[in-house]
Amino acid sequence: MVDMTTANLPQSTVDFSLDQEAREALFTEARSAIAFDSGEVDAELVTRAWDLAKWGPSSMNTQPLRLVVARSDAARAAVIDAAMPGNRPKLEQAPLLLVAAHDERFHDHHEITAPGFAGFHERFESNPEMRASLATSGAMLQLGYLIIALRAEGLALRPYGGFDKAALDATLMPEGWRSEVLLGIGRPAAGDDQSGERRGRIPADLGVREL
Ligand SMILES: Cc1cc2nc3c(=O)[nH]c(=O)nc-3n(C[C@H](O)[C@H](O)[C@H](O)COP(=O)(O)O)c2cc1C
Repeated sequence: MVDMTTANLPQSTVDFSLDQEAREALFTEARSAIAFDSGEVDAELVTRAWDLAKWGPSSMNTQPLRLVVARSDAARAAVIDAAMPGNRPKLEQAPLLLVAAHDERFHDHHEITAPGFAGFHERFESNPEMRASLATSGAMLQLGYLIIALRAEGLALRPYGGFDKAALDATLMPEGWRSEVLLGIGRPAAGDDQSGERRGRIPADLGVREL
């Protein structure tokens, strides 16, 4: 028997909604972790997270986010030295440190990001102020995707804005990459009691207005 309530509606063949477990892992149960399991983080996991996060939307598909994986002792020390003193003991507990950055010359990759877009490179080349603003806002937007993607790969992390960006740019960053946020990442600890009680979140009735 044909169900007349749905017979004439277009049917989606794919259900993109995530189950409760996935929602908890990505959002409601995931904390900004300080303690981690002692295991190392494979480079492959970070690359896999990047390969998910890169699909998130960015303004004009500019994709200004870049990522430094501070794997060597020297790179790790440079990150910790640049951090505010209160953040250093927390960063030291993370098995792997990342630096999320923006590329101030993101427009040089226009053949990948904007093929056939006439005037794209010139538009950004001739306007460094607009470029800098878009590079920062776009990298921060993409960082949000990356945080969720790292969690989707089973990793825990804490972001850190408290560090001397100019100092880190001078000691560690590739030319033209400007640091934005540090990430301490690792495999989740069985019990992370250092993150403290979870602070409240703005509820929908305060944060959402339907007009
Ligand atoms: C951009 C950014 C900067 C942050 N800077 C710091 C920091 O400098 N030091 C720190 O301990 N935590 C820092 N945090 C972590 C936040 O305090 C934390 O994500 C927030 O309190 C929510 O915690 P929860 O995820 O455990 O609920 C930062 C988070 C973000 C997203």
